[in-house]
Amino acid sequence: GKYRVISTKPMPGTRWINLLIEQDCRVEICTEKKTILSVEDIIALIGNKCDGVIGQLTEDWGDTLFAALSRAGGKAFSNMAVGYNNVDVNAANKYGVAVGNTPGVLTETTAELAASLSLAASRRIVEADEFMRAGLYDGWLPHLFVGNLLKGQTVGVIGAGRIGSAYARMMVEGFKMNLIYYDLYQATRLEKFVTAYGEFLKSNGEQPVYWKRASSMDEVLREADVISLHPVLDKTTYHLINKESLATMKKEAILVNCSRGPVVDEVALVEHLKQNPMFRVGLDVFEDEPFMKPGLAEMKNAVVVPHIASASKWTREGMATLAALNVLGKIKGYPIWGDPNQVAPFLNENAPPPA
Ligand code: GLV
Ligand code: GLV
Repeated sequence: GKYRVISTKPMPGTRWINLLIEQDCRVEICTEKKTILSVEDIIALIGNKCDGVIGQLTEDWGDTLFAALSRAGGKAFSNMAVGYNNVDVNAANKYGVAVGNTPGVLTETTAELAASLSLAASRRIVEADEFMRAGLYDGWLPHLFVGNLLKGQTVGVIGAGRIGSAYARMMVEGFKMNLIYYDLYQATRLEKFVTAYGEFLKSNGEQPVYWKRASSMDEVLREADVISLHPVLDKTTYHLINKESLATMKKEAILVNCSRGPVVDEVALVEHLKQNPMFRVGLDVFEDEPFMKPGLAEMKNAVVVPHIASASKWTREGMATLAALNVLGKIKGYPIWGDPNQVAPFLNENAPPPA
């Protein structure tokens, strides 16, 4: 291969590797055992000739790494993630490196995990599972693991982009929940969907569903029974959920986070969980991954999973493929592959425009 492309981790499937090899690339996959690579580890991988890198959300892609990549002749970096809060896009610009991410292929998979956590929290699935395995079940009882009925309750979505909207549709259609959402942009298609579904239910003689676009995040926090967070992480969303906003929520509300850990003040959350045993959370992400703040692991009213929202086979292979296409797109000219709409747009101006 003429071009040297590095993946900082083995990734699912073989399509991404074949795409690169077919296009004159030599692919090097880092097999380092430790999970999180340091900046120094990655500099060593890049070496003195590297055309492109596929990296992970656990890595700090800032000035140092983009300088090293540029010195090695690198032109492209792709995060194998839709979120790119770990990437300093301005630094990439400064060094002439195009940056890609992997939107779209993980929308439904991530929304399905948010739905799973909503259900796990509302029906106390994990607590009940632990109870069974501990041999504590000694017969059916009317009050055993009573949870919440979602039907007719209100789902609140903070950030109604691709993932937030997909989740909202699942909860509205699947469980006949009303919707309240907060976003800077109007989610027109989502509103139309809920309106049409409400009409359908009414024509069926059932209780309709309603939607409302909130004029503030607080309105969602006050009114929703299940709240799911889907913003991007940036300066404006850091600790969006804190002591004050938690106090705004209903005592029996459910909070789900499949976005980024620092969107929630996790210390304040642990305190809130302690004070409000009927309040429940489902968390896929944490403030200081891989760690949890003290006390969280002991809370019965928390369901916690290790950042697996995009972890379906189809999606992970799709993310790897998109990441490879991002890198190829810059190295070989854009778009080189099939339907250009299948290829994520680059995130910065150093990428050539779509043909
Ligand atoms: C995963 O967290 C992603 O951003 O893709
Ligand atoms: C994720 O696709 C996100 O596609 O918002």
